[in-house]
Amino acid sequence: MKRLLAICTIASLLALHVTAQPTDGPVLKVYPDQVQAALSDHLYGIFFEDINFGADGGLYAELLQNRSFEYFPVRGEMNDGGYDLHALTAWEVVHRDGGEGRVVVTRAIPLNDVNRNNLEIFSWSDEGAVGVYNTGYDGIPLKAGENYLFSAYMRREVRGWERRSPYSLTVRLEDPEGNVLAETDFGDLSADWKKYTATFAPAASVPEGRLVILAGGRGKVQLDMVSLFPEDTYNNRKNGLRRDLVETLEAMQPTFLRFPGGCILHGWGIDNVYNWKHTTGDVAERKPNWNRWGYHQTYGLGYYEYFLLSEDLGAEPLPVVPLGVACSFTEFECVPMEHMDHVIQDALDLVEFANGPVTSKWGAVRAEMGHPEPFGINYICLGNEEGDTPEVRERIPLFVKAIGEKYPDLKIIGTSGLSPDVPLYGLMAELDVYSSDEHYYFPPEWYIDNQDRFDDWDRSKPLVFVGEYASLGNKMFNAVAEAIYLTGIERNGDIVDMACYAPLLARYGNTQWKRANLIWFDNELVVRTPNYYVQQLFSTNKGNVYVRNEQQNWPGKELGVSPTYDAAAGELIIKIANAGEATTLEIDLEGKKAHGKGTVTLLQGDKDAENTREHPENIVPVTTFIKGGKRIRVEVPAISVQAIRLPVK
Ligand code: AHR
Repeated sequence: MKRLLAICTIASLLALHVTAQPTDGPVLKVYPDQVQAALSDHLYGIFFEDINFGADGGLYAELLQNRSFEYFPVRGEMNDGGYDLHALTAWEVVHRDGGEGRVVVTRAIPLNDVNRNNLEIFSWSDEGAVGVYNTGYDGIPLKAGENYLFSAYMRREVRGWERRSPYSLTVRLEDPEGNVLAETDFGDLSADWKKYTATFAPAASVPEGRLVILAGGRGKVQLDMVSLFPEDTYNNRKNGLRRDLVETLEAMQPTFLRFPGGCILHGWGIDNVYNWKHTTGDVAERKPNWNRWGYHQTYGLGYYEYFLLSEDLGAEPLPVVPLGVACSFTEFECVPMEHMDHVIQDALDLVEFANGPVTSKWGAVRAEMGHPEPFGINYICLGNEEGDTPEVRERIPLFVKAIGEKYPDLKIIGTSGLSPDVPLYGLMAELDVYSSDEHYYFPPEWYIDNQDRFDDWDRSKPLVFVGEYASLGNKMFNAVAEAIYLTGIERNGDIVDMACYAPLLARYGNTQWKRANLIWFDNELVVRTPNYYVQQLFSTNKGNVYVRNEQQNWPGKELGVSPTYDAAAGELIIKIANAGEATTLEIDLEGKKAHGKGTVTLLQGDKDAENTREHPENIVPVTTFIKGGKRIRVEVPAISVQAIRLPVK
């Protein structure tokens, strides 16, 4: 209803202002057939990092937490209110109906070399049961009418007296009161580790369910890699991703996906660096890692899944490889020069994993995982926001040389370092890389003031990838400031090749990066911020070329515009971002006319307005029609962003 009202109000406003009359307000003269800059085909994309529980507990659809009992206390930023991690985190021990027994995490007879911890349930009473339940991430959301795929590795060696004793192992879904929603019994278990599966269809929907494992009778059972996935994942993939979250990303039409970080890439120290080789193959054989943001990563969402996601989204994969140096914000460590060969080989092997034939070592691993066709990556990113240190300067050239020699067609994206001063950009120019990645997080005013950052940029230097930026807030004013900055980026589309906001995802109550994130979520809700809608609006209304334009009677930097042309659609696109007072903008088309009707997609709200868990649709874009012509008047509300599409042939 609110949306409908908004449509009507805006439609009537626009209807009032499509007729051309002389104006004292700002005028934009647009020359639709005079190209000023070609826009990159992959200007807008997304950057995914496992921060704020973005992967485990987020995009990765696994519902159980600590499924392989490998948690331990870690360093890193702490979760809200601290985070007590141990091998039984997210698991609770239960005794039912007088059942007696003991539950321990053991390393006796591990599942494999990388997954050594497992759970032993020893029950010793004829009555009742003993066991555990998993609480997932803030509970396990269960929906009646949907299927859930349970799996676990289990073994039970039966000796002496146990042979004569009855034994049972039951796995259930329960609500928080202990009501059973689905249940299955596992009969005889093998003495060797074996994977057991079951499909559960819960009898009722509960937002905070549990998975319960109960052993009855006498004997011991060991369990590992205990897993529960919704059958309904994005593209119905096994070991898949949360449908609602990926669909939210899909709606942005991202043209690239940068992954996996971010600070998690180079880790807290060298022992904590993100190792892509540990993220491939059977999930039970992936060596988990802890995360410099203070929690654990299963690596169930690994490089294979990232490449698959890129393919599903139609986005260029931009894998980032570590450079043998740890995060410059933590304990600075680096791999000694005499061991750098291994680190460089890891980067080369990654390209083989993505692009190599099935006959190659790493191409065969990819094929075995289900993708014999190469992923066909075209880019590789060297490092995250590296510090300007002698160690970094010594190491980066080694990668550029090795990758250039082995894969001359691969485009190398270097790093300019953290700061708009781009301390490493000069080195990237010397190394002649394809483009260089710069990051900055500042208040909104910085983006408004610096919208002309690239206007006088040295065009002889590498292209620019604005790989991380955000204006430190998710209020409407932040979104408008970012939009104004993007108008400057489009004006300089010949030098700025790619741009993406960061961080992408944040789980409510589990954030390390609190001030601004593009998409917030919990187990059932996905909240798109005003900043998200700006990214979406620019991505879906980009155009191919930025066209010549002139501004008259301009109020100042608080009004940003970007006129572009979309040749395939035959449409002139004018994006307008206003951080100031409401105004009326006159658009004069020079040498051309807009025929028939166009559309206006408008995002507006109070400066401090935001989308929250309680009011997720407080700020949403609204699309209406606008009449064409040669001279068009547009209402530009205070604190607003809009994209106007006009048919201009
Ligand atoms: O986006 C959050 C963090 O900001 C990234 O991990 C890091 O690259 C930057 O400092």
